Amino acid sequence: MIEIQGLSKSYNKGAVKAVDDLDLHVKGGEIFGFLGPNGAGKTTTIKMMVGLLKPDGGTVRINGFDIGKEPLRVKESISFVPDNPEVYEKLTGIEYLNFLGDVYGVPGPLRREKISYFLNLFELTGAVNDLVQSYSHGMKQKLVLIGALLHEPQVFILDEPMVGLDPKSSNNLKKYMREHCDSGKTVFFSTHVLEVAERLCDRIGIINQGRLIACGTMEELKTQSRSKESLENIFLELTE
Ligand SMILES: Nc1ncnc2c1ncn2[C@@H]1O[C@H](COP(=O)(O)OP(=O)(O)OP(=O)(O)O)[C@@H](O)[C@H]1O
Ligand SMILES: [Mg+2]
Repeated sequence: MIEIQGLSKSYNKGAVKAVDDLDLHVKGGEIFGFLGPNGAGKTTTIKMMVGLLKPDGGTVRINGFDIGKEPLRVKESISFVPDNPEVYEKLTGIEYLNFLGDVYGVPGPLRREKISYFLNLFELTGAVNDLVQSYSHGMKQKLVLIGALLHEPQVFILDEPMVGLDPKSSNNLKKYMREHCDSGKTVFFSTHVLEVAERLCDRIGIINQGRLIACGTMEELKTQSRSKESLENIFLELTE
C-alpha cells in the first residue's frame, strides 16, 4: 500500500517545480497507472517513492513505513524497475540475477525456481550465460524485470516498463501484474501507452506540470472530464 502526502520537488533552485504538493493513495490489490505528458513529473515522483531522490517536502509511506525515516524497511518490501535498464555490463545475466537474489535474501532453492520460471516466461534462458554488454535494450529490460520479481515484492513500482519489450513479453508482464495484484499485492507503474492503462489499471492518476489533475477508475475519470469515450480523449482534454 502506498500513501503519498504533500510531496514536492523542485530542480534548479526552485526554477522547475517538477512535483507540486502531490497526494496519492494506492491500496493493496490495486494496479495503479500513472500517466502524464513528457516532463510532467512521473519519474521524479517515482524516484522519491523508492528513495533515490529526497523530496523538498511531503512524505511517502509504503507498507506503513516512511521512505525518509526507514528506507531499508521500505526497500526490502518493494521492487523498482527504472525507465532505463542500466545493468552492470561486465556481469553475465545469471550473475546479475544471483546478485539481486543475494541483495534480497532469496534462499537457494526458491531462487533457482523463480529464476528458471521467469527466464522461461520472458524467453531469456538462452542468453543467461552471456555478458550483459551483449544484450539488446529489450533483453536488458527483461533481465531487470526478472531481478525485480525474484523476491515477490509487496509493492512493485515500474517506470515505463513496456518500452522495448516485444509484444509477447509485454503481454506476459501485463498478465503477471494482474496475478500479482489478485494476490493482494500492489503495482504502480507509469506509462504513455493509454490503451494498456485503460485495459489493465484499476485506477489511474494523471499528472501535469507536477500536479495531479485527475485520479480514479475509468468511470470516475469520465465524470471528471467532458470526454466520455476513450482514456486517450480524456487525457488529451485534461492535459490540454
Ligand atoms: N536532474 C534534473 N535536473 C533538472 N531538472 C530535472 C531533472 N530531472 C527532471 N527534471 C525536470 O523535472 C520535470 C519533470 O521531469 P520527470 O523526468 O519527472 O518527467 P516525466 O513525467 O517522467 O517525463 P517523461 O514522460 O518524459 O519520462 C521536467 O521539467 C524536467 O525537465
Ligand atoms: Mg519519466
